Amino acid sequence: MSLTLVYKGPAERGKCWQQAVADTLPEIRWFTWPDVPDPQAVDAFITWTLPKDYQTQFPNLKAIFCVGAGVDQLAPASLSPGIRLVRMLDPSIATQMQSYVLSAVMMIHREQFRYLRQAAQSLWQPHPVKLPHECTVTILGLGTLGSSVALMLQQLGFSVQGWSRSPKTIDGVSTTHGREGLNTLLPNTDILISLLPLTDDTKGILDYDLMSRLPKDAALVNVGRGEQLVNNDLLQLLDSGRLSQAVLDVFDQEPLPTDHPFWAHPNVHVTPHIASVTRNDTAALRLVENLKLWIQNEPMVGEVNKGRGY
Ligand code: GLV
Repeated sequence: MSLTLVYKGPAERGKCWQQAVADTLPEIRWFTWPDVPDPQAVDAFITWTLPKDYQTQFPNLKAIFCVGAGVDQLAPASLSPGIRLVRMLDPSIATQMQSYVLSAVMMIHREQFRYLRQAAQSLWQPHPVKLPHECTVTILGLGTLGSSVALMLQQLGFSVQGWSRSPKTIDGVSTTHGREGLNTLLPNTDILISLLPLTDDTKGILDYDLMSRLPKDAALVNVGRGEQLVNNDLLQLLDSGRLSQAVLDVFDQEPLPTDHPFWAHPNVHVTPHIASVTRNDTAALRLVENLKLWIQNEPMVGEVNKGRGY
């Protein structure tokens, strides 16, 4: 099978991936958006977003390789049934997510944000230290990223709970599913971490009702998608002293506008969507592996159930 691919994205990544494909699968034709001389021949897009009129321009499209782990921006349910959607499941994405969440959990658990505020006032004031098992971390979403984070925290001695849409088991992690299941975990949570995919069910899930079930002084880490968090509900819970702090890497508007209240809030810690970033070098290998699987008519790694949305 000879394939024609279109790459749409940053030039440096395109060069690296084109080379990796040419080295292993030289029969593949590679176009770089927007220079696509033969649109009828295009079998697949490698992209973060599709061009608006892709259905009419590329009538023979059979697959979309998303350059990232999240596919919500491609509106999976709206893609025609004949198009396969594959997300990027490079292990380095999970490794980066583990290190980001680890740093956020440690900053919260060892009260580093509090000591930074104290240091700004030259205030020498120790607080009692909790052991990891005395800190319960609840992870929403137990996909590839959520489960690798859950396992890491469990191995470090934290008390870890996990919640997912369908039942999942992870050694040493107490898991539950469904809305009822979630309600039982929340009152026993010190740090709530969202690693959920964005779907109709998870949009706005981190709202006042959910977050007010957390105990006083609980903290939130959002590394899922910004649209899952109701910003004003979080601000209200922080300002009333119900929640202690939030570490946020994703936002409903990115870049976060300069006048957004999150920037200046003393208990909100903002990073610019860097928890986990697709690496050109390692992801090139994943792309090549998947193209080989496709050519051999095998299931590809990271194929998305479009109806479910992840
Ligand atoms: C980043 O958030 C991604 O989905 O790759």
